Amino acid sequence: MPRIIKKLSAKDNLILLKMHNKNFSSSYWEEDNWNHFLSPDRKSLMCAIKKKGAYAGFIMGKPTQASCSVMLLNTLLVAPAYRKNGYGKRLVAFFLSTAFSIPQTRKVILHFRDSNKKILLPFYKKLGFGNHSIRGFYTNGELKHYMSLTKKCFLKESKSLS
Ligand SMILES: CC(C)(COP(=O)(O)OP(=O)(O)OC[C@H]1O[C@@H](n2cnc3c(N)ncnc32)[C@H](O)[C@@H]1OP(=O)(O)O)[C@@H](O)C(=O)NCCC(=O)NCCS
Repeated sequence: MPRIIKKLSAKDNLILLKMHNKNFSSSYWEEDNWNHFLSPDRKSLMCAIKKKGAYAGFIMGKPTQASCSVMLLNTLLVAPAYRKNGYGKRLVAFFLSTAFSIPQTRKVILHFRDSNKKILLPFYKKLGFGNHSIRGFYTNGELKHYMSLTKKCFLKESKSLS
């Protein structure tokens, strides 16, 4: 049974950085930037999913302002060998419940590339995200899609599922 891991050591973070850079070669992160993003003062959120001792994926995000009222879901990755097993869904659900357990957080937002629209638009819609629009471009000229989920909608949805 895959497990969600909330407490990640420096060694784990390095493994996840390698996984990130291997799968997102166009947005390579240096180790310093990665560690800075994850430093406690940035109030970032990160968790990973492990199957039989190996990392299968992770999710990370951070508040857009010091107030934590808007949380940006920066990165979601499930390694190719583990996809379509519900891990992505579990990681997003965990991220949302953690983000919305912060009293100040009222909205989670995310962006994705036009080339991923076919998969990610229905994927995030199923997870409750809406308010879909185009908000600018990536540096390579690709359209930048935006979606969001408010705490109000999240709580309403969670209530109807329980
Ligand atoms: C997008 C991603 C995280 C999905 O992870 P996953 O573990 O395969 O997703 P899940 O198994 O939880 O699937 C959830 C739903 O999305 C659907 N889905 C997932 N991948 C899909 C695909 N390639 N094509 C069509 N539907 C897909 C599943 O069928 C499932 O639908 P269901 O709830 O009706 O059964 C994964 O493909 C990935 O890491 N992609 C590359 C990185 C990326 O695009 N990250 C997002 C950046 S914002």
